[in-house]
Amino acid sequence: TLELDGSSTNIKIQPAMYGVFFEDINQGADGGLYAELVKNRSFEFYNPLMGWTQPKGDLHSENKNSGYANIVTDKNKSNHNYARVTINNDKNYELINEGFKGMGLHKGSKYNFSFLSEKASGNIHHIKADLIDEQGNVVGSANIALNKNGFQKYDAVITPSKTVEKGKLKLTFEGNGVLNLDMVSLFPQETWNNRPNGLRKDLVQKLYDLKPGFVRFPGGCIVEGRTLAERYQWKKTVGNIADREILINRWNTEFAHRPAPDYFQSFGLGFFEYFQLSEDLGAEPLPILSCGIACQFNTGELVPIGDIDTYVQDALDLIEFANGDQSTAWGKVRADMGHPKPFNLKYIGVGNEQWGPDYIERYKIFEKAIKSKYPNMIIISGSGPFEAGEYFDYGWDELKKLNAEIIDEHYYKTPQWFQENAKRYDNYDRKGPKVFAGEYAAQTVAIASPDNKNSWETALSEAAFMTGLERNADVVYMTSYAPLLAHAEGWQWTPDLIWFNNLSSYVTPNYYVQKLFSNNKGTDVIKISENGKAVTGDEKLYASAVVDKNSKETIIKIVNTDSKSKEININSKNLKWGKNLTKTTLSSSSLSDENNFSLENIKPKSENISVKSGSLSTTIPANSLVVLKIK
Ligand code: AHR
Repeated sequence: TLELDGSSTNIKIQPAMYGVFFEDINQGADGGLYAELVKNRSFEFYNPLMGWTQPKGDLHSENKNSGYANIVTDKNKSNHNYARVTINNDKNYELINEGFKGMGLHKGSKYNFSFLSEKASGNIHHIKADLIDEQGNVVGSANIALNKNGFQKYDAVITPSKTVEKGKLKLTFEGNGVLNLDMVSLFPQETWNNRPNGLRKDLVQKLYDLKPGFVRFPGGCIVEGRTLAERYQWKKTVGNIADREILINRWNTEFAHRPAPDYFQSFGLGFFEYFQLSEDLGAEPLPILSCGIACQFNTGELVPIGDIDTYVQDALDLIEFANGDQSTAWGKVRADMGHPKPFNLKYIGVGNEQWGPDYIERYKIFEKAIKSKYPNMIIISGSGPFEAGEYFDYGWDELKKLNAEIIDEHYYKTPQWFQENAKRYDNYDRKGPKVFAGEYAAQTVAIASPDNKNSWETALSEAAFMTGLERNADVVYMTSYAPLLAHAEGWQWTPDLIWFNNLSSYVTPNYYVQKLFSNNKGTDVIKISENGKAVTGDEKLYASAVVDKNSKETIIKIVNTDSKSKEININSKNLKWGKNLTKTTLSSSSLSDENNFSLENIKPKSENISVKSGSLSTTIPANSLVVLKIK
């Protein structure tokens, strides 16, 4: 028997409590959320023809029967390279882009094809673009006349006649001569909010359905980079898309599990788009910036304190970009990009997963600069990964002394750990900094092991843990699962919240746990107890409860990690209950069960039950999360 007491605990659930953590890992941005289908569209990868093949071309000889592409570089531009295509015989040369693990093409959907081109000599008068399937059959085409002077944009719409998972884009050239080619792009017209150059609709919809309180971006380790030169620099990700300077992805390295040599960041999804996405989702934007320390799992390169100003200025300028009016330099950049209204940024993160005295030394400088110019900006600081051991504690101690506001904690641990840590925040100092549980996920094998699964056991354990986050919402202000997205053939890290391929996507049981908490977060915590004690895993039962003062609902979350079902009685006091109970159950017959592309078996099932006022009895099935909503 559980006792539910509606008298105030004075613990408010933060509106931004349950959010999403976005990082361009696992092909999350390029080849994922960002709907561009052409890989290396502007020939900027370190090998500039990576992603492109010339099956009939001859790069090195003066082969008069074919043609070839080489690269022209202008180091003065942010978009350094373009391809120079020489055609000796227009019937014998093809330039093919392989896409990101192929290109997903949907039958009957419209695709915007475009490129920049200028004639250099001779007369190449048309470019024919063919979408081809895995066997090389043409499933859609456009033939574009090159009739403009100078480097100009050309475009056409192509509608495939067949759905293809791993299509390619083939260019053939009519006429002979030399032309320059850049920014070759193929985009589905159907994107989230149908924005040109926008985001993949099915993936954003899944984020939208979570009703996230915040979007943390752009990561993750990519914020830090493998070296400081390879850190994420937001200023290079805004403005004209063609001018955004690409960068190697930190997950394109020997440090990554399953490193991807062709993993670069085009920044088509850049900071403006992240702010816009946050706005679309009704979520607080939560940008995290480099604090002048490269990834400590890699080089850990440090910016000397004497040179840190650039980094600090980036943070100040970002706030101006997000919130400044059009009379400010960076506010104008935002307005010119089509968003005159401010984005209303409230939070900024200094450093991702950094630890030790070097971090504290740098954090202090950021804090001073940000607070003196923007006293209301809430700063998120880091304590490093939980694995950093004594450094983790050191970070907390030092940040406490500095009256830090919100500290980011990361843990990738066993399901067992998550169950045992439902009590984790019960004894945190109520007067100290608040917690951002910014990255967490239960791991079935080992941290980021390629053999990890998104099993029901991981999701159930996270649910048990999350009852502890919710009960302690006076300490825990924000939480997010990580990583968020993964391409089924292009991942570096498992487990992940949402999986996709070129055509479709599915959600994991872990996603549904996040969704059930986020969609039922309520406004105020109330007490749920057994014999006066919080329900934190004794007899394998976990519980938290909230009221929603707006919808006038009482919402109880109960997790049973036992292999036997439990009959529960709930008596309430100090609550006005109606008779309508919605019981939503998330469960599966085996702890090792998972969802996949063809079967989303583990998903919530709801039923409406009538209850008598003030108490209820119900069954909590074995290994289940049950959400009871009473109105
Ligand atoms: O979520 C994957 C990685 O885990 C993040 O990039 C990093 O912050 C953490 O180590």
